[in-house]
Amino acid sequence: MAQKIFYDDKCLGEWITPAERAAYEPSFAAAQDMLNKRTGPGREFLGWLDLPRTIGDATVRRVVDTAAALRPKTDVLICIGIGGSYLGAKAAIEFTSPSFEDLRKPRVIFAGHQINSDYIADLLELVKDKAVAVNVISKSGTTTEPGITFRIVKQWMEKRYGKAEASKRIVATTDPQKGSLRKLANEENYATFDIPSDVGGRFSVLTPVGLFPCAMAGLDIRNMLAGAGEAMDFCGKGSLEGNIAGSYAVSRNILFRRGKTTEVMAMCAPQLHYLGDWFKQLAGESEGKNLTGIFPASVDYTTDLHSLGQWMQEGVRNVFETFVVLAKTNTSVPLPRLGDDSDELNYLAGKTFEDVNAEAYRGTLLAHLDGSVPCATVTCADRSEETLGQAFYFFEKAIALSGYLLRVNPFDQPGVEAYKKNMFALLSKPGNEKQGETLKARLSKLGV
Ligand code: PA5
Repeated sequence: MAQKIFYDDKCLGEWITPAERAAYEPSFAAAQDMLNKRTGPGREFLGWLDLPRTIGDATVRRVVDTAAALRPKTDVLICIGIGGSYLGAKAAIEFTSPSFEDLRKPRVIFAGHQINSDYIADLLELVKDKAVAVNVISKSGTTTEPGITFRIVKQWMEKRYGKAEASKRIVATTDPQKGSLRKLANEENYATFDIPSDVGGRFSVLTPVGLFPCAMAGLDIRNMLAGAGEAMDFCGKGSLEGNIAGSYAVSRNILFRRGKTTEVMAMCAPQLHYLGDWFKQLAGESEGKNLTGIFPASVDYTTDLHSLGQWMQEGVRNVFETFVVLAKTNTSVPLPRLGDDSDELNYLAGKTFEDVNAEAYRGTLLAHLDGSVPCATVTCADRSEETLGQAFYFFEKAIALSGYLLRVNPFDQPGVEAYKKNMFALLSKPGNEKQGETLKARLSKLGV
């Protein structure tokens, strides 16, 4: 298998000199070493590092077989999860599948990644005449958003199918032992998949968290894992030369220290949109702590060149931009020549949409360089599962290295507890009532 994901930082020459990059070599080597020898902060969550090769054929076969058994009797898979228990599968399915959900069978519809009655009500209306299966995913097994969503969906499934058949159509992906989802799954006799305890949520796409919904959607998960395995090699090299994850991590850190505190991922094909969302979670939760961290943002080109493009060209110069381009689409639509050239587009006749999009990317790159935005490019060779697996692993490795270069623990997320504590107190979760009264008094003073 060949390398199918590339990082090109040639255009950063104006901002990063070869000497500066070379000066980073020892820090990069130290970060790489901390990962390999498992000596850095968060070392108990490094299971993702060699997961593509250690996952084991038995697990992969069970994922494939469970999906194969469920697919023929499923029009819609409702996939319930949030954060790392949602974004990887969403990104993978959008990357590889037909553009419109009606062209997909079964459709995978995600839920439990927000809190909204209309979304649930509309979802249940949508699936009322469809054959439904459910995959509820939560590593902790206690997260509120998927928890309350599953409560409703479970009740609906039992009413629709009866308890016994509902249990056969529900698959739970969770911690091997802990959490209320594991307990419930055991009681209800659901098929279950384990989330390895040494793999954190945002690094879990290549565990059953991402693999099972992908298999249900018809993706070839073995090719995805094979791609990720290949990326282990080229992202594992001990020097920056030839290690694209290392080069990307170093570029991000040098730019950050130059005051470029926001990274805009410019996703240059619609199929890449959710890869951008997945990346934002990966980078944001891994690096944004201890009052440091690059703020990860994303835009969709060319769509957003007609909105945020103005800001990118002339707004505050605290950003750097990483274009993510797709070298090859699945189809190629050429533009016809018109006899009368009534729309004055004959100069594009014979060119495909991708020919036009490629020049839009190159033109934007130049314009943004002229507008003092440091730009680099990640290229995905095509929309295959191998390429996607390489992309997932490349970004995971780059962010882990980048986090160590920033001197943070990339594998924890203490900050996400703050809102939860307040929400539980305000909702009078047993044991939190007193804190709830204090918070309500504060909010009332604020007029909220
Ligand atoms: O990366 C993470 O650890 C988080 O984003 C989690 O994936 C997210 O909070 C969901 O957690 P859980 O799978 O425990 O429901």
